[in-house]
Amino acid sequence: MIDLRSDTVTRPTQAMWDVMHNAPVGDDVFGEDPGLNALEKTVADMFGMEEGVFVPSGTMGNQLGLKVHTCPADEVILDEKAHIFHSEGAAPGLISGIQLRPVRGERGVLSADTIASAIRTRNDWDPHTRVVALENSSNLGGGTCYSLSGIRDIYQLTRKHGLALHIDGARIWNACIATDTRPEQYGEYCDTISVCFSKGLGAPVGSMVLGSSKLMKQARRYRKILGGGMRQAGMLAAAADHAVKHHFTGLKEDHDRAKTFAEAIDRNTAFRIQPDEVETNIVLFGVQEGKMDEVLAWFSDHNIAMIPFGHDIIRATFHYEVTDENLESVLRAVATYTSP
Ligand SMILES: Cc1ncc(COP(=O)(O)O)c(C=O)c1O
Repeated sequence: MIDLRSDTVTRPTQAMWDVMHNAPVGDDVFGEDPGLNALEKTVADMFGMEEGVFVPSGTMGNQLGLKVHTCPADEVILDEKAHIFHSEGAAPGLISGIQLRPVRGERGVLSADTIASAIRTRNDWDPHTRVVALENSSNLGGGTCYSLSGIRDIYQLTRKHGLALHIDGARIWNACIATDTRPEQYGEYCDTISVCFSKGLGAPVGSMVLGSSKLMKQARRYRKILGGGMRQAGMLAAAADHAVKHHFTGLKEDHDRAKTFAEAIDRNTAFRIQPDEVETNIVLFGVQEGKMDEVLAWFSDHNIAMIPFGHDIIRATFHYEVTDENLESVLRAVATYTSP
């Protein structure tokens, strides 16, 4: 099966297994895992942040980011397509006692003006706006990226209003490649950022939340409270380190394949897409002829797995297990599909 459901389905390469197998380990809750300590420093340096805290998932990275910035009854402005809003189980209410204020952006990307209009006044009866959370690239938006100047404008707005800026950078690596931006350029314009090693980079497990030492001291404590303190996690750090060193620049190939796929989808009248909107490894397309379930089943019969992503929208995601040969088979299938 050519698995285009998600970039999280990749399995470690042999080289990654080898470094995991040979990783030096210690008890990370005691701060004694040498590989993990090194990874936290390496990634913090990459993003120009003081410190990083390794966490099991992107969800925990985001939730710790929100937790360290807020008090109960605070509010977070974010795009209505945000993963934090749709897919983290209402955790901000449960973990931080805070409220989310989703606003409409452009395919998951917000402008400073849109955010400015959602910032509350500070009457006693108002929820108090405390954080702006951006997602880069935006998953539900179809892999869309912020421009660096767009983030800078939002950052300046947050400085003016005394707000914190958190970036959900689960796929910040893809955004770096697609917009030719270095990680530290993003680090300059946010207070916290969570990054995932387990999406396009291909590590089996692991994310990191990054920020000032003061904030990360709190994040480390909350990570433990939430059950995210890991012991001999050095083998996971080894996989993540390998992923950053060896799979980062290769994301360009995923983006190119996604684009070629989108162009093929565009040539088949059964589907609906704007191929020039595809910026990274995620392709969203609409079904014009036939039913979405039938389309997914037809592709599945042709050994291609994709997932529904809304009422009549399908998501295909490209990652390092999708080879050129796989892409050729997918393109042939796309060209021959006709609605039953
Ligand atoms: C944009 C975004 N943020 C956060 C996450 C959460 O990551 P995890 O599944 O590791 O909790 C995901 C997962 O797909 C995501 O797409």
